[in-house]
Amino acid sequence: MKIDPWSSTTYQDYSRLRDEFGIEEFTDDLWKDLPNPHKLLRRGVIFGHRGFQIIKDSIVEKKPWAILTGLMPSGKMHLGHKMVIDEVIYYQSIGADVNIAVADIEAFATRGFTLEKTEQYALSEYIPNYIALGLKPEKCRIYFQSKNQDVKDLAYLLAKKTNWSQMQATYGFNGSSNMAHVFAPLVQTGDILHVQLEKYGGIRPTLVPVGVDQDPHIRLSRDIAQAHRLYNVTVTKDNKIGVFVKVDEDVSKLLDNAEKVLNKLNFKKLKRITDYKAIYIEDAVKEDIQKIDGILAKTETKFGGYGFILPSATFHRFITGLTGDKMSSSKPESAIFLTDAPKEATKKIMNSKTGGGATLEEQKKHGGKPDECVVYELFLYHLIEDDKELLDIYTSCKKGERSCGQCKKYAAQLMEKLLTDLQEKRKAAEGKIKQFLS
Ligand code: TRP
Ligand code: SF4
Repeated sequence: MKIDPWSSTTYQDYSRLRDEFGIEEFTDDLWKDLPNPHKLLRRGVIFGHRGFQIIKDSIVEKKPWAILTGLMPSGKMHLGHKMVIDEVIYYQSIGADVNIAVADIEAFATRGFTLEKTEQYALSEYIPNYIALGLKPEKCRIYFQSKNQDVKDLAYLLAKKTNWSQMQATYGFNGSSNMAHVFAPLVQTGDILHVQLEKYGGIRPTLVPVGVDQDPHIRLSRDIAQAHRLYNVTVTKDNKIGVFVKVDEDVSKLLDNAEKVLNKLNFKKLKRITDYKAIYIEDAVKEDIQKIDGILAKTETKFGGYGFILPSATFHRFITGLTGDKMSSSKPESAIFLTDAPKEATKKIMNSKTGGGATLEEQKKHGGKPDECVVYELFLYHLIEDDKELLDIYTSCKKGERSCGQCKKYAAQLMEKLLTDLQEKRKAAEGKIKQFLS
């Protein structure tokens, strides 16, 4: 199995994906202590993560952290695209600074769009919807990949520490892959890591909320971030905690620096072994590693390093299309677009594939299947805030006490409210776009 960010595969078995790729489960303890956890977090739609713990700690300890995500504008924005921005808006409300890449280079390289066309889509469709959904201009910047020299420079410079075999193994590139496409993941790595440059806020934990199709890019970015670090703080095979210098230049200066940092942190039992380029910390415990690493990272720039903290990511499930397969812009009947007229949306909902029985009789007898119902998904992902109300629908469906007609009507009503509200807010958004562009 391979995760291909550019294919149109649908993913069914998320726990298998998690196991196979070493994505960690997004367990309750990760979101329970956050302020007003968002419904996508509470309801298991965010099903996996890499390195979220450091984000959680930053939130709880009120330390700076960043959000970076990207969009590839290709046509109209639908409910599937809305999810990431819902997450971003939530994280903005609890203190993250927000950075959003318009992936015009990627759209050019992988979809054959011109940069101009992508810009149009971004300005007329995506950004107005982001604003309408509640994105705020404070501590927020939206930029175009093609116009950010730092991102492009970083893509090139960081590419030094990845090779063709890795790109081939990760993405399935081959001899006929075009080089713009091959380079696109490196530009995305530039997106993800550039927020830690001094000019963009400096070294800090960064969360990248994405769909699971983006995991290959996350792995690449984490590998590359790690590869450029000067220090590695880790537990050895024989259970010792140590700081290791990873480069061959300035070794003694780097060890001196680490020693100073560790002294300041009040570690007393340090054992420096210059031959191993290591300092063992005998009075440290595993839980200290993150802190030590974070502080050392910030000193790396003095030695010509970047000091990137490994970027974190969360992965969400994909919403099913109304027709029962993928929600896709290329099949308008499968998707509800944020610019759909309420009447159109109602029609799509009325024709959608539910988890109801073949007849009303049967449904009353055996109950419905909310887990296989796209109308229920609409409630779960987008339309119902109150967990209790959602649970009531779930249980009454299972008991056969609800009819699909009833659900569809209710979903259409709620959708109409959502869409007309967005319509109005989009109008007001038009004059505000400039405030978001860097
Ligand atoms: N590749 C993403 C997509 O297909 C878009 C993207 C570009 C992105 N840069 C990013 C996503 C950085 C997350 C982080 O939608
Ligand atoms: Fe879905 Fe509602 Fe029908 Fe249950 S009753 S299958 S939730 S539409």
